[in-house]
Amino acid sequence: TKNAMWSGRFSESTSALVERFSESVSFDQRLWKQDIAGSQAHARMLGKVGVLAAADVEAIITGLDGIAADIAAGRFAWSQALEDVHMNIEARLTERIGEAGKRLHTGRSRNDQVATDVRLYVRDAIDELVGLIDALAAGLLDLAEREADSVMPGFTHLQVAQPVTFGHHMLAWREQVLRDKARLLDARKRANILPLGSAALAGTVYPLDRHYVAEQLGFAGITENSLDAVSDRDFAIETVAACSLVMVHLSRWSEELILWSTPMFGFIALPDRYCTGSSIMPQKKNPDVPELVRGKTGRVVGDLNALLVLMKGQPLAYNRDNQEDKEPLFDALDTARDCLALYADMAPNIVVKRDNCRAAAAKGFSTATDLADYLVKKGLPFRDAHHVVGNSVGYAAKQGRDLPELSLPELQQFSPLIAEDVYAHISLDASVAARTTYGGTAPAQVRAAIARARAKT
Ligand code: ARG
Repeated sequence: TKNAMWSGRFSESTSALVERFSESVSFDQRLWKQDIAGSQAHARMLGKVGVLAAADVEAIITGLDGIAADIAAGRFAWSQALEDVHMNIEARLTERIGEAGKRLHTGRSRNDQVATDVRLYVRDAIDELVGLIDALAAGLLDLAEREADSVMPGFTHLQVAQPVTFGHHMLAWREQVLRDKARLLDARKRANILPLGSAALAGTVYPLDRHYVAEQLGFAGITENSLDAVSDRDFAIETVAACSLVMVHLSRWSEELILWSTPMFGFIALPDRYCTGSSIMPQKKNPDVPELVRGKTGRVVGDLNALLVLMKGQPLAYNRDNQEDKEPLFDALDTARDCLALYADMAPNIVVKRDNCRAAAAKGFSTATDLADYLVKKGLPFRDAHHVVGNSVGYAAKQGRDLPELSLPELQQFSPLIAEDVYAHISLDASVAARTTYGGTAPAQVRAAIARARAKT
């Protein structure tokens, strides 16, 4: 079939393979709301500046409303021969309202049209992601509050380092996604600029009121240069970069959740609804959701790569390559949305096995630094204290015991400065309680951080 929209100069129609190869309607039809809103704003503006008669504008607006209702109800038959969402809707409009439908595309190109649609889509998608991050951050805050005093091992190199509180760990996760939120909102600022009115690449001969279109669509401003406007996909790349970092963060959490829910760690239990069983091993409860979140991080990082490489060789202005922006963009947004929604629901329902966490924190000489700090308080330079404690750890390790299990005379072999009060300094609770630096792990600091966070939201 010859394309009704542009086939004037062609003597044969595209081959079936080319039609299938070049269509985008199978994946860009999700832009229909944005496309219709953009067309209605464009039509109103053409009416306002006197390019279209009021009756035509009226017919276009009503016709597009009817099409929107059809699409929403699943009554719209998308045609691959019409290539994309834009031409499907425009062709149907003309079927419905006749002549006036053919006037809609005055002073417009699909190049500025698609850029507008995608920006509108990205703007809405970012708002949805930000809402989910807020919900997730709120859940983490509640969990942190519940576990403000729960002691667990803190790790460096995945070796036990110093005791921390579970609440402190949850607040660390929260900081990561708050930065993601800020990045998404920053990307939104640059997405929220109207390219429509740039036409194919050079602007147009009609006296368009671009500010009026921007106002109707809620854009904060209009693009400055028509060549740039139709060719720029930075906003999509920035958004997918922000999604990639969201996923990298959720993937790191996933790794911890998976480890923590093994019998060897035994720090947490995940709600059953996030796990599945094995078809052969009856005892299994597998952490599928965190595993899939970790796995899906690869897709989103891949989407970011796809977009960067998509753009790198493109001369100004619009090139059909740009049609390839949609699948990675949508995939990244969909994936980040689903993963955030799952974690927003799951995180506050993590069951912390406090006794196991505490027992694990007591292993691995986690309060060795506290013993060194104790000796510093008694007047020993830190480097000397470090050496003394190293010797006592070596002694304890050989015996398969931990520091607080050594008797006072045993400890005193390593330094005469050690006295009975040492035990009050090297207990788990004393260790965390002493870390009162701003942003530190002491329960009092964790509570102060929660209070600051609550005051802000
Ligand atoms: N489907 C196209 C895209 O997604 C719309 C723009 C097509 N423009 C063109 N001159 N062929 O980019």
